[in-house]
Amino acid sequence: MAIVRVREHVNPLSQKYQAPASPPDWTQIYAQPEQPLHLDIGCGRGRFLLRMAQLQPERNFLGLEIREPLVEQANRWRDELGLANLHYIFANANNSLRSLLSPSTLEGVIIQFPDPWFKRRHQKRRVVQPGLVADLAVCLQPGGYLFIQSDVEVVAVEMRDRLAEHPAFEATSQDWLRQNPLPVASERECSTLEQGLPVYRTLFTRL
Ligand SMILES: C[S@@+](CC[C@H](N)C(=O)[O-])C[C@H]1O[C@@H](n2cnc3c(N)ncnc32)[C@H](O)[C@@H]1O
Repeated sequence: MAIVRVREHVNPLSQKYQAPASPPDWTQIYAQPEQPLHLDIGCGRGRFLLRMAQLQPERNFLGLEIREPLVEQANRWRDELGLANLHYIFANANNSLRSLLSPSTLEGVIIQFPDPWFKRRHQKRRVVQPGLVADLAVCLQPGGYLFIQSDVEVVAVEMRDRLAEHPAFEATSQDWLRQNPLPVASERECSTLEQGLPVYRTLFTRL
C-alpha cells in the first residue's frame, strides 16, 4: 500500500473547515444500506475500519476524517479490497454529524486517540466538545455504544467527563477498561502498546 504524506495536524476551527459535509446517497454507497451503521470519528488513514469491515460484513462502517488526502487514499484501499460495507468522508466531525446523519441512525461510535492539542489556547480544537456530544446523543440509537480511548490521560478524562455530563450517556464502568472491547486495534493504539505506554479507555451506552 502506497502511503500519502500529509501534514500532521489541521486546525478544525479554521475557516476552510466550517462548511458542513453533504450527505451522499447512501443507497449508492453501501451494498446493504439497511445494515447497522458504525462511525469512526477521526479515522486517520482508515486502517482500523478496513479491518473491521472485513471482520464484520453484517455491519456498515463510516469513517470521518478532516485531512482530505487520507480520505481519498482510504477509499482507494477500500475499492482495492472490494468492500461494499465501508466508506470514508472528508468532514469536520464538529459541524457535520447532523448534516450527514439522521437521528438515531448509528449503532456505534468510536473515537480513538484524538489529537491532544496540549496548549491551553488550542484545547478548543479537541474534537470532543459539548456540541459534538449533543450531536452524538441525537445520532446514536438508544442502546447504542460509544467507545473512546486515548494515550493522553487528561484528554481521556476530558472526553469521559463531557460524555458523563450528558444525560443520554452512561459509562459501563467506573474504572478505565483494561482491554479494548473491539476486535481490532487502531494504528495509534498499536504504536502506543508497542512502546509499553498506557491507554485510557471508556465504553458508554446511549440510554
Ligand atoms: C491522532 S490521529 C488518530 C487516528 C486513529 N483514530 C488512530 O487511532 O490511529 C487523530 C485523527 O483525527 C483527525 N481529526 C482531528 N480533528 C478532527 C475533526 N474535527 N473531524 C474529523 N477528523 C478530525 C486528525 O486529522 C487525525 O487523523
